Amino acid sequence: MFRNYARTLCLCVGLFILSFVWINQQHENFSHKFVAISRKISTLTVTKIDENESTPKETSRFFVFSPQCKIPYVNPFDVSFQQWDLLKFKPCTNEPALVSVIYDSSKRQYKLHLNTDVAKKNFSSYGNYGCTCQEARSGSGDTIAYLGKAAYIHQDWPVPTHFVGVIVECHEVRNKSRVLQRDAFFFIQYPKNRNEANDAKRGAEYPSVFLFGIDSMSRMNFHRSMPLTAKFVSQEGWYEMEGYNKVGDNTLPNLLAVLTGRTPRQWRSKCDVRKEGCLDSLPFLWDLFRNAGYLTAYAEDLASMSTFNYLKEGFSRRPVDFYLRHFMMVIEQEMKTINYDELNFCVGRRHSFSYILDFAKQLIERFIVENPKPLFGLFWTSSCTHDDFQGGRHLDKPFVRYLEEFQEYGLLKNSIVILLSDHGTRFGPLAEHFTGFLEERLPMLHIYIPPWYRKRYPRVANALQLNRNRLSSNYDLYLGIRQIIEEIHPRMEFQPLFPPNTIHSILRVLPRNRTCSQAGIPEHWCTCKPFVNVQVTDFFVELSKLIVDRMNEFLKMLGVEGDCHLVIPKKILQADQQLHFDELGNVVAAPNGLETFRLLFTTIPNDGMFRTIVHSNANHSIFHTEVDMISRVSPYKNESYCVKDAVAKKFCLCRKDKFLKLHRGREKKVRKVKYEFMEDREGEYYDESHRFTIT
Ligand SMILES: *[C@@H]1O[C@H](CO)[C@@H](O)[C@H](O)[C@H]1NC(C)=O
Ligand SMILES: *[C@@H]1O[C@H](CO)[C@@H](O)[C@H](O)[C@H]1NC(C)=O
Ligand SMILES: *[C@@H]1O[C@H](CO)[C@@H](O)[C@H](O)[C@H]1NC(C)=O
Ligand SMILES: *[C@@H]1O[C@H](CO)[C@@H](O)[C@H](O)[C@H]1NC(C)=O
Ligand SMILES: *[C@@H]1O[C@H](CO)[C@@H](O)[C@H](O)[C@H]1NC(C)=O
Ligand SMILES: *[C@@H]1O[C@H](CO)[C@@H](O)[C@H](O)[C@H]1NC(C)=O
Ligand SMILES: *[C@@H]1O[C@H](CO)[C@@H](O)[C@H](O)[C@H]1NC(C)=O
Repeated sequence: MFRNYARTLCLCVGLFILSFVWINQQHENFSHKFVAISRKISTLTVTKIDENESTPKETSRFFVFSPQCKIPYVNPFDVSFQQWDLLKFKPCTNEPALVSVIYDSSKRQYKLHLNTDVAKKNFSSYGNYGCTCQEARSGSGDTIAYLGKAAYIHQDWPVPTHFVGVIVECHEVRNKSRVLQRDAFFFIQYPKNRNEANDAKRGAEYPSVFLFGIDSMSRMNFHRSMPLTAKFVSQEGWYEMEGYNKVGDNTLPNLLAVLTGRTPRQWRSKCDVRKEGCLDSLPFLWDLFRNAGYLTAYAEDLASMSTFNYLKEGFSRRPVDFYLRHFMMVIEQEMKTINYDELNFCVGRRHSFSYILDFAKQLIERFIVENPKPLFGLFWTSSCTHDDFQGGRHLDKPFVRYLEEFQEYGLLKNSIVILLSDHGTRFGPLAEHFTGFLEERLPMLHIYIPPWYRKRYPRVANALQLNRNRLSSNYDLYLGIRQIIEEIHPRMEFQPLFPPNTIHSILRVLPRNRTCSQAGIPEHWCTCKPFVNVQVTDFFVELSKLIVDRMNEFLKMLGVEGDCHLVIPKKILQADQQLHFDELGNVVAAPNGLETFRLLFTTIPNDGMFRTIVHSNANHSIFHTEVDMISRVSPYKNESYCVKDAVAKKFCLCRKDKFLKLHRGREKKVRKVKYEFMEDREGEYYDESHRFTIT
């Protein structure tokens, strides 16, 4: 075994160095990165071979290194990640709060307190003022929320115990349009009809589970853009899963895999998530936790484009006990918002993400500090990072401050905390970077296990330590989170996951040499087989033509060729060839002469940059690519507004007359999309890029 590794390594190193030397002659522009890569790989031979093959060493240069899977390490601080310009971080307000919330824990009641000093000091030019309060109320389903009637409130006004949120406005009595301040507050109301004795018992014995999600954050970009948070999660008890590979294109399939353990094919075969009631029928982790006696919570910013609601029906029943959605809908509608990169950055007096983390904070105060009750919560934020790969640099400081505060409250004493993302950056400079293939596919995942839990279940800590550098997927994470319930309720029965039974809980030791398909990772998203750079020959020019034909064919199939310019290949920027390994990890020839290539190329007239995986033999008599395997890495903004299909949007540049017509008429032109063409997509029907459609 040992010898085989050494042989493989030498072979790999040989290949890399060979390709480096050769590329150096052919393509000066790609040489610098291969200098870096080959240097790193040569150090690997002496460091990584270790009989335990578990602990990652500083010098190890693969995230995962096994016979079946070799995920190359990317140094997040490599010089090739240039210093991109950063938009300035803006505070939402520097005005002190005129109204604040006080919680009376003996009466279990919130009060609204007027800070009269602030009024005197900061609003001295105003005459007498009064403050009104309006209740933010949820309507039916996920799509309707109301704002109640405004009523004047007095000092230390007790908030009725059924209110989930309010908007407060203080204005001059004389002239109501002279507003001193508007603010919005939500309340974690103490749950009624709980068995307090049971709760107290469970609160002492069951670990609470907190999932904090940051949208579109790869593990590399996390270390680079959020160094303070990265430092926080490197403390004892935290495990970084470096072999965590996404399973679907965008947020929905990746998050549903974590929350339901289901593949897109499975949840799609059940019902259509765009239809009412569909999501309610899926068993989510929060349902399992509720059955096990937990309170449940879920909050996400950007209500208009949130994971389960963007072009989908969302939940028709409230999915969790504490659900922030309706409050977020109301405030995004009613409060002044400041956009940043087209997303709501500030809502009222706070950053959009603050509501999510404040929500977690209030839950911690109520159910970790005051009245311990086991809680399962998901807190997801996209507002900083969804459209800006540098957004983490804004989020870092406030985010780590929240984590520190949670720690002071004692969150890390009892709870299992998971910091995760759905995928990495899919468009723009980071996707275009030569590590973009990995960037897109390797979301961050950090798991915290509290000391008592590590002591009680030493095998969990041991497994996590080993699994850090083993291939893992969203499905393993699902089983891992579910295992927390299994430990407390050994007799509770769960539905088995999809066959074959190669998905394992991430809290148990994962097989070292598993393949992507065993981990439920579709081939297209798999990062296990490294690529080597090859010379751009006529062969690849021919290949790029075939790929572009495939794109145009797809546009024609949808019947949108009249609306879109057809695509023409322009330039091949990079060609890579996949290495193949046998069971023992030796490099072997491609089966049947069918090679896998990765091309990065540009097109006109849409000025697009694409990264595509294709399979082809030497004379292209066998050629295979799916439209899904063609990733658009340069942003397309709204240039494809005239089509609605998520895939077509990647290729289509709308014709000019369509543009003009659309603008003059200001009508909404939505082409009916034929979904039968997309049946074997692994992802969802729509993708997030639909945000760019004109409405
Ligand atoms: C390298 O890049 C520069 C500009 O980016 C270009 O002018 C030059 O032709 C490229 N060289 C090769 C060998 O591709
Ligand atoms: C492997 O693990 C065992 C037991 O955990 C330990 O005693 C041994 O020193 C380790 N070997 C290496 C090379 O780290
Ligand atoms: C509010 O008043 C305090 C005390 O006078 C002052 O320090 C602060 O700058 C004021 N803030 C604003 C936004 O006016
Ligand atoms: C009330 O305040 C607004 C805004 O400051 C002002 O435009 C308006 O003239 C005021 N109305 C009266 C009656 O003073
Ligand atoms: C994994 O390794 C074991 C022995 O080390 C071997 O029996 C098994 O076939 C391997 N599995 C795969 C998928 O290579
Ligand atoms: C080239 O294509 C022909 C069919 O057109 C096929 O018979 C032949 O095997 C191909 N050659 C290679 C090397 O794949
Ligand atoms: C696309 O967006 C740009 C910038 O936001 C805007 O100027 C342009 O009018 C938009 N085009 C269409 C067709 O909406």
